[in-house]
Amino acid sequence: MHFSPEIEERLAQLQEKYEAMGQDMTSYLDGLLYADFLTYWDYIHLDTLLSLQSPKTPFPDEQIFIMYHQITELYFKLVLHECEQITAAQPLTPLFFTARLKRINNYFEALTQSFDIMIDGMEKEQFLKFRMSLLPASGFQSGQYRMIEIYATDFINLVAKDKRDELRNKTIEDQFEYIYWKFGATELSTGKKTLTLKQFEKKYAKTFIDLGKAAASNNFYALYNQLKSKGESTAELETELKQLDTNVNVNWPLVHYKSAVRYLNREPEEIKATGGTNWQKYLPPRFQKRIFYPGLWNEQELENWGKAWVEKVLKDVDAKG
Ligand code: HEM
Repeated sequence: MHFSPEIEERLAQLQEKYEAMGQDMTSYLDGLLYADFLTYWDYIHLDTLLSLQSPKTPFPDEQIFIMYHQITELYFKLVLHECEQITAAQPLTPLFFTARLKRINNYFEALTQSFDIMIDGMEKEQFLKFRMSLLPASGFQSGQYRMIEIYATDFINLVAKDKRDELRNKTIEDQFEYIYWKFGATELSTGKKTLTLKQFEKKYAKTFIDLGKAAASNNFYALYNQLKSKGESTAELETELKQLDTNVNVNWPLVHYKSAVRYLNREPEEIKATGGTNWQKYLPPRFQKRIFYPGLWNEQELENWGKAWVEKVLKDVDAKG
């Protein structure tokens, strides 16, 4: 049998590769000979993936709720994958930073556009029943979502807005005590921390504080400021950062809020949120003014953060009934 020059060349390269590691190439070729062909379903662990949906009730629409949360968490993982690459890049160039931010923006835009799967895709009657079996779990407890926020900005920008000035030069631990989301998760009636929050902190507080410390001078805002102070051209980067701010702090929160209004607004009384929050006061972006990059917006934009949008969302939902 004759081997083509291409095959001979590959064999020589393989021989070199294995020799360098003190390995016997023939044994590896045997391995190749006996190995099964890779299948699609094994490669992406399809059977495992499709076995991860375990409803707590017999209502069919609970499956949709579970799967859409899982899809969202996978997107969050894609976002975090880019966050890790940006913060690890040595040296980080505006070009690479911008390209990776574009990917993150695409992921968030896909999530925002697909949120109708929640808003219109489940029967309200089923939702209101199966959610009672899920207490006190809530999407509020998405650790990945909170990690994305920590990568995106200086920790101080995640502190409740009336505490920012006071805590500006304090440690990450001190700032964490007043991170904005703790305020959302207090019980309506007693003002105490909800069980949803207590459990979330027990699992993730250390992870968030450690990440906050690691990202102190290595988050997107800090990295942008470092590039800018070096005189690098950052115009395109600024556009992507502003888009990210809008995607994470206005657009996604608004479509999400729309689902809360759709399912939890019921005259005359409001339906309690699964996490026990005062969600009407907590979820609308205009109340909390979470803004990753305050230095990139003008005064009017900061003043009107999320405002017109919230009014529109409420009107749309009212019109639908
Ligand atoms: C019908 C669909 C949904 C409704 C009615 C809903 C409702 C709520 C409510 C009321 C809260 C406030 C916390 C609480 O009291 O539980 C919340 C928070 C949250 N939910 Fe959802 N949610 C829905 C779908 C989703 C999905 C698909 C995700 C994706 C992971 C998600 C992620 C979150 C996150 C990250 C928070 C915290 C937001 C923040 O702190 O500003 N939710 N949700």
